[in-house]
Amino acid sequence: MTRPQKLLTVLVTGAGDGIGRATAQRLARAGHRVIGTVRSADRAAELTGLARAGGLPLSYSRLEFPSAADADALVREVESLGRLDVLVNNAGFGVFGAVEHVGAEDTARQFAVNVFGPLDLTRRLLPLLRASRGRVIWIGSLAGRISLPFQAHYSATKAAVAAIGDAMRMELRPLGVQVCCVEPGDFATAFTGARAVVDPPGSAYQAAQARCLRAAERQERGGGSPEAAAALVERLCRARRLPARAPVGRLARTMCAVHRLLPDRLRERAVRLNYDL
Ligand SMILES: NC(=O)c1ccc[n+]([C@@H]2O[C@H](COP(=O)([O-])OP(=O)(O)OC[C@H]3O[C@@H](n4cnc5c(N)ncnc54)[C@H](OP(=O)(O)O)[C@@H]3O)[C@@H](O)[C@H]2O)c1
Repeated sequence: MTRPQKLLTVLVTGAGDGIGRATAQRLARAGHRVIGTVRSADRAAELTGLARAGGLPLSYSRLEFPSAADADALVREVESLGRLDVLVNNAGFGVFGAVEHVGAEDTARQFAVNVFGPLDLTRRLLPLLRASRGRVIWIGSLAGRISLPFQAHYSATKAAVAAIGDAMRMELRPLGVQVCCVEPGDFATAFTGARAVVDPPGSAYQAAQARCLRAAERQERGGGSPEAAAALVERLCRARRLPARAPVGRLARTMCAVHRLLPDRLRERAVRLNYDL
């Protein structure tokens, strides 16, 4: 069941491309007031101009995790609107490489962008979300449930946001704020090209890593349209009661079933076969 159609104020991070872009545009087309974030000020101005020209209630602001100045300015901007109904924590990227080779800098960046930055932003926007009895939608990943080879750090960040979402849901339930973690499988987006691949020459993992990367990229390129994930997020903005987790995409639903039904050894074997390992 959905809430009666009321116009919402929604903040979508990482709205310059992929799932975030499709979500921000879809919500704005439905009449909601949407603020999307992108990393470059020029791109923010360009996308805001395009949205205004199309008559959409959609504007873009600059946010690059882990910039504290960007987060401060964004929080002030949203506070000045006086209302926030939904925060969609979508921005993210993936580091790809063997645990042995992913150094402290890449590890820190992976967690700063996918977990620490969004967590701090969420914390600071909670007073507005409490006032509106709003909702927080984390864009996690299937990788948050099933750890992926050569994507240990990415998988760990997505497990972290799912865990944070679970705890927040219990804390915020009595205060009327709902929290959900969307778990996409493979989607054809700029994510594939934006991946940071750590692959030193002569590494003992080289051949396996290359096969795994090829399989991951093939599956992503053949994956779902970001519109499908955006449609789910729109439904979650309006649904009366949010599920705790919301897998999206054919692979996500199948893999969640596999995850529940298979013993660890078989489950891991299925993941290895899927990634050509
Ligand atoms: N595609 C998939 O198969 C898949 C599967 C599972 C989960 N997901 C998750 O879905 C979410 C959206 O990904 P997508 O597939 O739509 O990928 P995408 O097209 O690459 O979009 C990612 C967005 O995150 C933004 N971003 C990246 N680094 C950032 C940073 N340091 N600070 C702020 N924003 C940053 C990008 O900003 P710019 O536009 O400025 O570059 C972009 O708009 C991510 O959290 C991803 O982990 C994707």
